[in-house]
Amino acid sequence: MEKEKNLEKIVSLCKRRGFVFPGSEIYGGLAGIYDYGPLGVELSMNVKNAWRREMFRLHENIFELDSSILMQKRVWQASGHTSAGFTDPLRECKKCHHRFRADHLTEQGIDKCPDCGGDLTEPKRFNLLVETHLGPVQDDSSLVYLRGETAQGIYVNYNNVKISQSASLPFGIGQIGKAFRNEITPGHFIYRMREFEQMEQQYFIKPSEADKYFEQWKEERLHWYLDLGIKKENLRLRPHVTGELAHYAKAAVDIEYNFPFGWHEIEGIHNRGDWDLSRHSEYSGQDLSEIDTGTGKRFYPYVIETSAGVDRLTLAFIVDAYEEVIGGRTTTTQSIKEIEVVLKLDHRLSPVKIAVLPLSKKEPLVNMAKDIASKLRKNWNVQYDDTASIGKRYRRQDEIGTPFCISVDFESIDDKKVTVRDRDTMKQERMEIGKLEIYIAEKLK
Ligand code: GAP
Repeated sequence: MEKEKNLEKIVSLCKRRGFVFPGSEIYGGLAGIYDYGPLGVELSMNVKNAWRREMFRLHENIFELDSSILMQKRVWQASGHTSAGFTDPLRECKKCHHRFRADHLTEQGIDKCPDCGGDLTEPKRFNLLVETHLGPVQDDSSLVYLRGETAQGIYVNYNNVKISQSASLPFGIGQIGKAFRNEITPGHFIYRMREFEQMEQQYFIKPSEADKYFEQWKEERLHWYLDLGIKKENLRLRPHVTGELAHYAKAAVDIEYNFPFGWHEIEGIHNRGDWDLSRHSEYSGQDLSEIDTGTGKRFYPYVIETSAGVDRLTLAFIVDAYEEVIGGRTTTTQSIKEIEVVLKLDHRLSPVKIAVLPLSKKEPLVNMAKDIASKLRKNWNVQYDDTASIGKRYRRQDEIGTPFCISVDFESIDDKKVTVRDRDTMKQERMEIGKLEIYIAEKLK
């Protein structure tokens, strides 16, 4: 058995099996934009649900929000995103006019245009906020931004959530939603996009407790990935050095994943200090401070932020689960000597939980198999498949990470039993149809 990974193979699997498609593909695509297909929706939804469960079910003092993508322009002035804080250094080729991130070129030791070899301009700052206009007239007054991070929607609702939920420090507010950035060099598939989704949580605390909660959240978030099956050796924490810190951050650490294209950030944990609530108080004129009951003095809560990208995580989970078996997993089919792919996703993340496969397309097998599938469908995402050989169908299911395949054969008619195949152990177990639901519920717990 051997294992090999590269991004091209993963991109191809994602397209072929309906996880992720290039955006506007029939018109030649749109850089940095992707669409999720049926299995990608299911997988990324499972990632989001795992995060929601962790944040909002398992913490009694973290509240969920769904704020709008469009906000007043002033929000982004207060947050610092319209000024130098949210810019990337950019160099433009004087010949082909393609633009590149100056820091990426420096990292790779490149001093000429990577596309045509032309001379590059000196770095210029480039703002990442995506602009649009709201209302019938397109002028400065109708300019709005598509949010560059979901976090700002949380800060502007700080008082709303606190008062309506009778919350007191420490407490958190989290949300999942789209964010937009005019990335100069989108790339690595769904790693760096221009439209993407974030899962952000802001934990509001007393300033004196910042270090304690920063450490706590680092541990909790790291543990979440390990619990969902990411291999320990593919995860690491990387603290930011002083010059690298975002404009709002006092301290920051990235959770990085070992992608086929190197170690890269999948989540950031930031101590944002009192930057956000103090700035929004100043710009909005609404008091977002708290009172210290001991000293009677007012203070702005500090924020420990955990900020993960749904798309990056989805990619990391696929990459981590992807295994190639050279020579095939089974020796019973024509697959011998071929490469077989298995996606060893944690059961909670697998897009399809069970496949029901009749051995023949003939009655009464088909009816029996369809009946089993429709019963199981009430609880789980089930695929029914009666096309191609059974070996091919097993391989299809392995490729999308389906934990259980149920095959219905001619004996099933008489003995009312079916065979359950486990994706990981490849063990096949003969079982009464009536016991399937309990068996699978136990396994998928
Ligand atoms: N609120 C803080 C914030 O937005 P960030 O480090 O800029 O911090 C947080 O982004 C997370 O959002 C990243 O760790 C990444 O997972 C995701 N993210 C950021 N930019 C992205 C992009 N262009 N494409 C996909 N995901 C992105």
